[in-house]
Amino acid sequence: MPGSNMSDQLKDRVAVVTGAGRGIGRGIALILASRGAAVSVSDIDGEAAGTVASEIEAAGGRAHSGTVDVTDPVSINDWTASAISHFGAIDICVPNAGVIGAAGFTERRDYTADDWRLTWGVNVLGMVNTADAVMPHMKERNSGKIVNIASHGGRAPRGVQDPGRGSVQAPYSVSKAAAIQWTHHLAMELGRYNINVNVVCPGRLWTPMWESIALNHKALNPDLADLSAREIFDLTIDATMPLGRSQTPEDIGKAVAFLASDDAAEITGQALNVNGGAIMN
Ligand SMILES: NC(=O)c1ccc[n+]([C@@H]2O[C@H](COP(=O)([O-])OP(=O)(O)OC[C@H]3O[C@@H](n4cnc5c(N)ncnc54)[C@H](O)[C@@H]3O)[C@@H](O)[C@H]2O)c1
Repeated sequence: MPGSNMSDQLKDRVAVVTGAGRGIGRGIALILASRGAAVSVSDIDGEAAGTVASEIEAAGGRAHSGTVDVTDPVSINDWTASAISHFGAIDICVPNAGVIGAAGFTERRDYTADDWRLTWGVNVLGMVNTADAVMPHMKERNSGKIVNIASHGGRAPRGVQDPGRGSVQAPYSVSKAAAIQWTHHLAMELGRYNINVNVVCPGRLWTPMWESIALNHKALNPDLADLSAREIFDLTIDATMPLGRSQTPEDIGKAVAFLASDDAAEITGQALNVNGGAIMN
């Protein structure tokens, strides 16, 4: 049956993924490569990006890498231009790079001006900069898929420690809500160029980002003082996930692969939760 072989799902496509040196971005890059795409892996940590590119090549895939700070449009433009000259085109763009908060996040109960600046700069403007870099190329080809990575935290408030107080996660959640709305706007703008724009909203994954959140819970809640960060993470999964398990970077990669495939040709401007049912909207 045509299309039944998953390893051919993205055959001959070229994908670029930001923040892909570890965690979810790495999982997305590996899944896209396993589905047949050539992948350019970028991260502000260029060495980590290079390691993931080597993993893809070692598994028989085609890869390219770059050191990219998504807050710097020049850095992104240079990388996407380099990916186009390396592979000939870009079909799929996955703006994934994200940050939870500024330095000291793990110890703080209250957000700071730096939390707002950093989360907005990386999680929102970084996503805009990445789309800006690939848009002219995709428009010219009248073809493209942009799959943003937000969070189910952008759907509803999370992580409130004390009623009547703000949450240190507020800047992050607001930035992710903005990422979802940005996706809607971009889908409106690019639909007539045959470019689909969607957003995946992950739930909870054990990555360095969630380790920071668990350490924050531990610092603020004396009841958690004797638990490890991983044990705190596992408790939140039991308490919040109808499916009773956390998600993996590969789970997010599979949703991205679907939205980047021909099977999703009529899907645009949509936000897809991959969150074990934790938030149902
Ligand atoms: N882990 C979760 O539970 C979870 C849940 C929902 C959404 N997300 C989102 O998924 C994405 C990936 O999260 P993760 O858990 O893998 O985080 P992570 O912290 O493990 O990895 C983030 C990656 O982004 C890179 N990065 C940070 N700032 C950058 C910049 N300015 N330019 C380029 N790269 C930069 C980091 O070097 C790192 O490799 C983020 O957008 C995050 O908000 C994560």
